Amino acid sequence: MVDSHDTLWQQRFDGDSAEALRALNDSLPFDRRMFREDIAGSRAHAKMLAAVGLLTGDECDSICEALDIVENEMADGRFVAAIGDEDIHTAVERRVTELTPAGAKLHTGRSRNDQVATDLRLWTRGALSDVAEAVLGFQQTLLHRAVEAGETLMPGYTHLQQAQPVLLAHHLLAHGWALTRDVDRLMEAKRRGDVSPLGAGALAGSSLPLDPSFTAAELGFGEVFDNSLDAVSDRDFVVDALYALAMLGLHLSRIGEELVIWSSAEFGFVELDDAYATGSSMLPQKKNPDVAELARAKAGRLIGCLTGLMTTLKGLPLSYAKDLQEDKEPLFDAVDTVRLTLAALNGLIATLRFDVERLQDLASSPYAMAADLAEVLVTHGTPFREAHAVVAGLVRRSLEGEGSLADLVAADERLPAEAEALFEAAAFAERRNTAGAGGAGAVAAQVKKFRSRLNTDATRLG
Ligand code: ARG
Repeated sequence: MVDSHDTLWQQRFDGDSAEALRALNDSLPFDRRMFREDIAGSRAHAKMLAAVGLLTGDECDSICEALDIVENEMADGRFVAAIGDEDIHTAVERRVTELTPAGAKLHTGRSRNDQVATDLRLWTRGALSDVAEAVLGFQQTLLHRAVEAGETLMPGYTHLQQAQPVLLAHHLLAHGWALTRDVDRLMEAKRRGDVSPLGAGALAGSSLPLDPSFTAAELGFGEVFDNSLDAVSDRDFVVDALYALAMLGLHLSRIGEELVIWSSAEFGFVELDDAYATGSSMLPQKKNPDVAELARAKAGRLIGCLTGLMTTLKGLPLSYAKDLQEDKEPLFDAVDTVRLTLAALNGLIATLRFDVERLQDLASSPYAMAADLAEVLVTHGTPFREAHAVVAGLVRRSLEGEGSLADLVAADERLPAEAEALFEAAAFAERRNTAGAGGAGAVAAQVKKFRSRLNTDATRLG
């Protein structure tokens, strides 16, 4: 029986560890959230040991039963950690060994180095799927709001200056499409991480007749490691996941920034629902877009998780080093951060009210039709450069107070009669209908395509 102060390695040492060492070294406070993965890995390992004759069937059964008990204890909070439980692997094995003497054989041919790499790959696999699901849910909200917006126009911007009107739906779906790339990246990170390191041992494999492909299959991994040194030192899968999460966070921050602007009195494009806005302790009139601001801010933290881990990994010699323990907190934090942000931003967008009249009004600025006016000239054979100059001249004269742009266009014989029709309200939405464009016809096609893309991705995620 192991004394409660003992770690898995205490027999080699004289006396107890310093408290400061424990505080720095122990990872149980954060790696306990991988308990299900650790137990699944131990179950697979025990079955493999039985399959190759290193455990009897009875020993394997009693270990698996003990693992079930430990899993339940951990799931419902009854598990009591011992002082020597430096990490989740130690804690599980210690408790299994208390429950059955066969537990002393569980670590046969295994090291915490291949064990932790296995656990974290399993955890990451699940987390990436969960995040991708949440992204899909958010995309559904964007789609819903886009459909609801119908043919509402808004000013489209470049340089944050009004440029050309687009459908509000077009703008919302632009963010939706960016998120499809995030789903791709999340799934790609998952695919890359689909390699089992279990069986690599501490660094060099084992002299025992282990079968790494058995445990890989048991845990549902698509591939098995080719090099034991690489298997225990590789954290590319964490970096891949963090990159995918950081990119996603970056997209969410751009959405957040727009909502901050749109909800200002100056823009007045949207009004936030009270459930997703905050007040000011001093200024009674305030309604603040904290959710959007935090979505904007969290990207910094996510990029920090990515660069932090990359910096830790840089220059590490093969194979395992305790530095690698620093992989988990940024990953857990990034996953939690993205999930929180997605949920709040999703709610914010689902509930906000667009000021359709204002959007439509601003979109109908005659100047927004300048490019279309030039394009009318182009259809009559004027080279675009010349057409641009003609319209620019009229815009300047109008801005200088000579008359409305529509009047100047009507009076100018260089412009054909149909140019005047451009200033009718309906014309704004009807134009710019090339593939992927912001006009009504093109956006209707886009909505269909986006919807079917979401369905495909939902099937892909299973
Ligand atoms: N807690 C450790 C980690 O997260 C587990 C592996 C420990 N291995 C070791 N040789 N001390 O990386």
